[in-house]
Order: sequence, then structure tokens, then C-alpha cells
Amino acid sequence: MSKFYITTPIYYVNDKPHIGHAYTTVAADVLARWQKMNGKDVFFLTGTDEHGAKIAEAAEKAGKNPQEFSDQVSEEFKKTWKNLDIEPSYFIRTTNPEHEKLAVAFLSRLYEKGFLYEKDYKGLYCIGCEKFLTEKELLEGKCPDHNQKPEMVLEKNWFFNLKEFLPKVKEIVAGGKIKIEPDTAYQEVLGIFKQGLDDFSISRQKVKWGIPVPWDKTQTIYVWVEALLNYWTALKIADHEDFWPPDVHLMSHDILKFHAIYWLAMLAAADVDLPRRIFVHGYFTIDGQKMSKTIGNVIDPNVLVKKFGVDATRYLLLSRFPFGKDGDISEAKMKEMYNADLANGIGNLVARVARFQLRIDKLRIANCELKEYKSLMEELKFYEVLKLIMNKVKECNDMIEEKKPWRIKNEQEIKKTLMPVVEKIIIIAEMLKPFMPNVSGKILEILKTRKSEILFPRI
Ligand code: ME8
Ligand code: MG
Repeated sequence: MSKFYITTPIYYVNDKPHIGHAYTTVAADVLARWQKMNGKDVFFLTGTDEHGAKIAEAAEKAGKNPQEFSDQVSEEFKKTWKNLDIEPSYFIRTTNPEHEKLAVAFLSRLYEKGFLYEKDYKGLYCIGCEKFLTEKELLEGKCPDHNQKPEMVLEKNWFFNLKEFLPKVKEIVAGGKIKIEPDTAYQEVLGIFKQGLDDFSISRQKVKWGIPVPWDKTQTIYVWVEALLNYWTALKIADHEDFWPPDVHLMSHDILKFHAIYWLAMLAAADVDLPRRIFVHGYFTIDGQKMSKTIGNVIDPNVLVKKFGVDATRYLLLSRFPFGKDGDISEAKMKEMYNADLANGIGNLVARVARFQLRIDKLRIANCELKEYKSLMEELKFYEVLKLIMNKVKECNDMIEEKKPWRIKNEQEIKKTLMPVVEKIIIIAEMLKPFMPNVSGKILEILKTRKSEILFPRI
């Protein structure tokens, strides 16, 4: 069986999960389920990023020690994924001692090969980003993403000789050996190569909450370096090394540079096979504004599940705008779409057909029916797939409107009239499977048992 390895970013535990995290992770789960349906042996990885100044600060604010704090927030992530019927093959935590050991082993390899060197460094560090910023990146002296003044850091750090590997990475990326998608993301990476890049530090002197650098105990490993390594350490910890290299890394563009350049260079330096594909989805705003605690517009995915149900929440997240484009989310719009697409669309269609209590013996569909669907799924065009499904739902509802089966008296005649609709509904259920696993099963169940049930109560 051919293998398929898919990853999400590992999320910072400075705060509980929000719908940005849910967006990526639901998408990864949909892709994982679809690859399984497609006959692949799938390994789906997600997890939490638990070291660094940002987490230490958040823990202190909460009056907890960082480990205790990470345990608690990491658990929140796990619970949230469970509530969303997201089923990762493994959940990695960077405070797992196995991860720490393996990250150290990886870096020691780079050290022994002579790719790391010591240097005094002065720079502006944003704790929110966990990275150094250049003057040019600031907006009125502040980090534009965190609206926070970066702190001036003066340290002796270990640096990775990125320059030596840039030409190779550039060749691989520009030559299309690694697919960076969509094209906007690919162009962004080419632009970064054009600008040029400095070597980056792989250690921090003043950050205590981290993994000690084995050959220099005055330093801890820079959080981003060991975070990226999770994709590699997790397979070893889970004893599934045969899934390497990753088939697709999913993320948004906030962390593209780390993946498309630093990560690839680190792997190239260590002589490890490179991932096959990096897919970058859009970043969204809430009611037209950046999602932020200060604005108070952060949406908790668990609240959406309570309001709309699991399957509907998964649908509503992926059907708002194309995967790969930035967009806007609003709860009001979600409610509107819930009623239009789900309650009045799919739910109503199934109820209308179920009313006739047809005896249906065969619930299989021809594979060719899924051709367009399959190629869209292959390209991670979830939005377009959901549109395709909703068009089919509309076609069915229109067919019923036109044929008016309620006016037909003869039972055989009703069945003959409605069978084309039933067949379409079976295809719809099949296509919905990775997106709405419960509803998809329920639709087939309703058709089989002729016991109706309200799939989506109106809100
Ligand atoms: O960056 N819209 O973690 P993070 C869409 N620990 N997606 C969003 C989003 C939004 N408004 N907000 C967050 C980190 N995301 C590092 C990653 S990986 C080795 C280390 C999603 O908690 C999106 O996938 O800040 C984004 O790339 C990720 O969460 C950032 O999560
Ligand atoms: Mg972030």
C-alpha cells in the first residue's frame, strides 16, 4: 500500500486553540480521510509547540510552571480535535523527552559536520513571533503582527551556515522538485531567495525554557529549530519512520519562510530526504478584523461545535473561501450558510426523499462519477469540492420540484421517478465522507432503513 504522510504545524500552547488552528487541522483531517478512502496508508501528524520565551511568559502570567502550563493547554488542543472528529495518527509534544533527545541528535549531526558556528549577535526579537525582525519589517517601531515592541537582544549564539545550502535549496524549489503551492506562496519564496538571507541562529542564551545545547550548556536550542524537527522526530517516536518524507506540510503563510527555506536547508545539511509538497492556505480575519485577544473576537471552535454540531462546523470552516486564499469569517455568515446549505439544502433533500420510504437495494456508485471530485481533492480544492456537492444538492431538489412525486399515485412509478435522485444522493454522501463523516453515514443509513431523522435542525 502506498504511504501518505501529512502534517499540520505544531501549535503554540501560549493560549487555547482558536478557529485558525481548527481550520488547518480540519483540512488536514479531511485530506487524511480522503487519502484513506483512496486506498493509501496514511500517517497524519499534529501536535503542540511548547518551548521558548513566549510559552514561559504565558505560563508565568497564569501563575504556573511552564511544564504544568503546557500539559494543560496541550490537553485543550487534544480535546478540541476530538470534539471536531479530527483523528491524528499521532500527537507530538515538544516537551516529550524522546523529542528532546532526537532533536539534540539531529543538531549534533550538524555540529559534527561543521555547519554550526558561534557568533555575537545583536538584533530585535519579537517574542510573539519567536523570531528576529529587521527594522524594515517594523511598523512604527512595532511588530505588525503582534503590535508589540521587539526587544533588543545582545547575545552569543550558535549559527547555522545557511548560506552554504541556499543555492541547493533554491535549485530544488525553483526546479519544482518540491511543490510549493499555491502559486502565490511559490512566488513569495522565490522573492525571499532574490532578497537573500542571513545565516540564522539555532540557539538562545537567555531563554531557559528550552532544550539545552549538548556541547554548550549556556545555550538552549532555538524554539523554531526544534519545532520544525517535530516532523522528523515524531515518526521515530511513533515507530513509523517508513512514512518519511512528508507528502504534504500544511500551514498558512505566517510560517512559510521557516518551512520553505530554513527547514529544507536543515534537512539538506543533515542529508535527510526533503518533503514533497508544502501547501499554504489563507489567513483569515473575523468580521473584517485581525483575530486578537485585545479586540476580543477570537472564536473558540468548541463553541461552534456546540452551536452547529461537529459535521456542520467542519463544513462551515472549509466552505467560506478557497483554500489558499485569505478570507473573512463571521458567525452570522456561518449561521446563514448553515441554514441555507445544510438545513434547507442537504437536510431538506434527504428528508423529502425519505418521506417516500423507497426500498433501495443497491447503495454503490460508479467510480467514474467521482472523477472531477478526485482531481479537486488532489489539489486540496476543498471549497470547490463543497461547491460541486452543493450544486448536486440543488440539482436534486430541482428534479424533485419538477417531477412532483407527491402527485404520483403508483408506488412503482414513484420509485422510477425518484431513483435518479437517490443515486445522486448516494454520490453526495460519498463525496461528503471526508468532510462530514457522521452525516455521510447517516444519509446512507436513512436511505437503507427508511427511518428518517432531521440531519440539520434549523437555527
Ligand atoms: O506558528 N487563519 O504556531 P501558531 C488561518 N508553533 N490559519 C491560522 C490563523 C488564521 N487567522 N491563525 C493561525 C506557530 N492559523 C509555530 C509553528 S511548526 C513547526 C511551528 C494556523 O500557534 C495556520 O496553520 O502560531 C498557521 O500557520 C498556524 O496556525 C500558526 O500556529
Ligand atoms: Mg502564530
